[in-house]
Amino acid sequence: PTKVTKICCIGAGYVGGPTCAVIALKCPHITVTIVDLNQSRIDAWNSPDFQLPIFEPGLEDVVRQCRDRNLFFSTDVDKGIRDAELIFVSVNTPTKKTGVGAGSAADLNNVERATRRIAAMSTTSKIVVEKSTVPCRTAESMRTILEANSKPNCRFDILSNPEFLAEGTAIADLYNPDRVLIGSLQTPEGLDACESLKGVYANWVPSEHILTVGLWSSELTKLAANAMLAQRISSINALSAICEATGANIDEVAHAVGTDSRLGPKFLKASVGFGGSCFQKDILNLVYLSESLHLNEVAKYWRGVVDMNEWQKRRFGQKVVKELFGTITGKRIAVLGFAFKADTGDTRESAAITLIRDFQSERALVNVYDPQVPQEQIWQDLQEASPSSSLDTIQKHVTVSPSAISALYKSMNKPAFVFDGRLVFGNTERERLANIGFKVISIGRGDSI
Ligand code: NAI
Repeated sequence: PTKVTKICCIGAGYVGGPTCAVIALKCPHITVTIVDLNQSRIDAWNSPDFQLPIFEPGLEDVVRQCRDRNLFFSTDVDKGIRDAELIFVSVNTPTKKTGVGAGSAADLNNVERATRRIAAMSTTSKIVVEKSTVPCRTAESMRTILEANSKPNCRFDILSNPEFLAEGTAIADLYNPDRVLIGSLQTPEGLDACESLKGVYANWVPSEHILTVGLWSSELTKLAANAMLAQRISSINALSAICEATGANIDEVAHAVGTDSRLGPKFLKASVGFGGSCFQKDILNLVYLSESLHLNEVAKYWRGVVDMNEWQKRRFGQKVVKELFGTITGKRIAVLGFAFKADTGDTRESAAITLIRDFQSERALVNVYDPQVPQEQIWQDLQEASPSSSLDTIQKHVTVSPSAISALYKSMNKPAFVFDGRLVFGNTERERLANIGFKVISIGRGDSI
């Protein structure tokens, strides 16, 4: 197998950036170049004061150690491709908005463009690694495109190496992954390429954590893992509604359920619903795949996970209206947190967007506070969520606050409410808030105080 010394990563986003920065850190003998068409993103990665384009705990420290040593960021995609022995394709694959499969299929345009660029620019053989989350058998399309456009004496071996990092803990996840999954064709060349990539990870990941499988299993595993994670959240959220109606406490139920060693304690936190760029997109991708294979019951099963999530978001908004005496018109509501979860500035599919849109349609006045999300991003997301409203109209109802304190109890109309859609307050915090005078309502608890 080739001993890799030059890596190029196409796509300097939430996955490409952290993943390849950690590879550069752990493999000082490998030169890693991350390329992207987006000039402002690359400028931010290269900014002298390390104002990186994404917020991720620990990331800045890694970039500070490696940048301009063996880690480079560039918009010169072609050079990046030409120089590399191994290329990660880490471009975004959002849900298609129009055309066949709109609303569920993955848009593979970026993957295809990157693949065609690799074919056009390569003058030596390459290992091409699918890092983006893609539908099952995408590697086959990539291979067909590469082989149809390659120069003589250039061979391409394609690997699938899906990324399992979670935003907010990306660096810790990359340092210490539960597993690294590599899929390859089971041919001598495919297995050789697999060994080469394994050699990169082996610089810091114990070999028993590196799993090697066939290409299609690897591609499907990523969709399966996200579908099952999201399904746990939808399951606990479905139970949270029963708790609210019966007086049971979802935290107690989740804890007790999670002590069963077959189930485990993680990912059992009830909430206002999951967000982020992956769960919904990847489940819908699985739904589309199932439908294409005429497996309608399978498609229906997984779609239920997304439906439950939509219902949970709506239900939380409706609960707020109900508790505030059936109307929130003209009432001021502070929304703390706009990103889709803690420790990230990523707002894609954030439940906060749906909530604020629903509050707006009830003509409430909303104050948003999130220390990691720039104002322009908030306006852009809210505008996309309500295409029929002008930005002016939105800004009449929504204010972006510079601090959480601006929403203090003293200045609020009474009774003043706190709605906990993330179960961030345990019994002690709930009591403290109640002692200030707040009425505290938490998802999955029938016992508001
Ligand atoms: P992102 O949108 O943050 O980054 C993708 C980058 O690719 C963008 O900066 C874009 O300009 C660039 N790009 C697109 N087409 C290009 C081309 N032809 N040439 C050069 N650059 C191009 O997306 P993110 O979040 O990094 O996701 C990338 C992939 O990884 C997706 O398939 C996603 O499903 C998957 N993934 C994402 C995870 C996450 O937590 N965000 C976790 C695991 C997988």
